[in-house]
Amino acid sequence: MLNKIILSAAVLAMAACAMPPAAEAPTAVATAAPKPIEITEASFGCIRDLKAVRGFYVGNLLGNIDATVAAANAANGATYPPGSVVQLVPGEAMVKHHPGYNAATKDWEFFELDALPTGTKIRVRGATDVVNQFGGNCLSCHAQAEAKWDMICEQTHGCAPIPVTPVMARAIQNTDPRCGKMELPADQLAALQQLMAFRAAAAKQAAPTGN
Ligand code: HEC
Repeated sequence: MLNKIILSAAVLAMAACAMPPAAEAPTAVATAAPKPIEITEASFGCIRDLKAVRGFYVGNLLGNIDATVAAANAANGATYPPGSVVQLVPGEAMVKHHPGYNAATKDWEFFELDALPTGTKIRVRGATDVVNQFGGNCLSCHAQAEAKWDMICEQTHGCAPIPVTPVMARAIQNTDPRCGKMELPADQLAALQQLMAFRAAAAKQAAPTGN
């Protein structure tokens, strides 16, 4: 009995070896994973060079910008295509990888960035463990968005709100140090002042004994 099993295994193995390699090649090509999307500091730039959609900006690192804009404008939500870049402010970004990057984040990678006059520095990047400068985990908020919105929060998709109002966001976008300078309307100037007060309060809370 044992001999018979070993024999049939050997026959199977031989049969497999006898398969012409040409027959296997097309299958291997069809199922090969796409090349991972390479994201570096050079992948980011002036936020206003991206496409404006409502209050935020989108781009696509693979050149598939039309599909990204279509996903952002889909009335009932859509899965963003690989390469999609989404930003509300210069200091944070979400970038969509190919399927298989991370199921928990629906293949989004989260970035905390330093937008400097000289370019962009990546402070933190990753999937489930990226925390913003106020101690909030990106995924914990963005995962609250209803499934159909593909983790995009905006104001009505089910995420806990952030203290950045739409006018503040506009003011931050319009003062991205990587972009050309522009005049700010009075409401955005006031919003920036409010934001600085909020940041100062947050910093004080983070270091209560500091002077
Ligand atoms: C406290 C919850 C919370 C945390 C933490 C958080 N976000 Fe958000 N994020 C939001 C909400 C709510 C919005 C929508 C704000 C609006 O449109 O007014 C948003 C907007 C965004 C957008 C624009 C697209 C969208 O979803 O509306 C991006 C990109 C983004 N956040 C990235 C990040 C990254 C990267 C991190 C971590 C470094 C992060 N966020 C941390 C709640 C959060």
